[in-house]
Amino acid sequence: MQSLQEKASVLSGVDQADASAINDSNLFEKLGLQSFINLSTNFYTRVYDDEEEWFRAIFSSSKKEDAIQNQYEFFVQRMGGPPLYSQRKGHPALIGRHRPFPVTHEAAERWLQHMQHALDDSLDIDQDSKLKMMNFFRHTAFFLVAGNDLKNQNQNQDKHVGCVACKHGAKKPAEE
Ligand code: HEM
Repeated sequence: MQSLQEKASVLSGVDQADASAINDSNLFEKLGLQSFINLSTNFYTRVYDDEEEWFRAIFSSSKKEDAIQNQYEFFVQRMGGPPLYSQRKGHPALIGRHRPFPVTHEAAERWLQHMQHALDDSLDIDQDSKLKMMNFFRHTAFFLVAGNDLKNQNQNQDKHVGCVACKHGAKKPAEE
């Protein structure tokens, strides 16, 4: 069976090697803490001001300041800095933590669009780092989409268990 990482590569068009290029050099040392704070602040300002209500609604259970902190602390630790996120919240477990949210293909593309614009505004981040970060973001976004698809498949299977109207709930093929 295809792993979620493999599905993420297919869906995103970013292969594993490009997604992992953020590990080639220490981006935290290169860019510094403030660049990450600025990036996440810019990104979430765009998200919370989004004209699309369906997209804003995905984030409505979180306070903007908390979302900014969660995100930049995760980025810092993932890109070579101190483990700020894990010290405060434990393992990132991104699939599990996104489980309550509808991370659809459409949501991923909109998330990425806001992130691209936030990176475009980031004059303190060089082009090479931007490219590496965007590949990582794109691959991770579609890793989450693949996780979301799996969640929905499992939920649909659960719904069919014991369902008399369709045959999915049948215990043995012979009973169908
Ligand atoms: C694909 C589209 C995505 C959607 C719709 C989405 C949605 C969300 C939402 C609604 C939250 C809760 C806000 C908060 O309280 O922090 C969240 C949190 C978070 N997201 Fe995403 N996200 C997406 C992609 C990503 C990507 C690509 C990354 C990493 C590269 C990421 C990393 C995180 C992190 C670290 C948190 C904080 C989790 C926590 O501490 O609970 N997300 N996301």
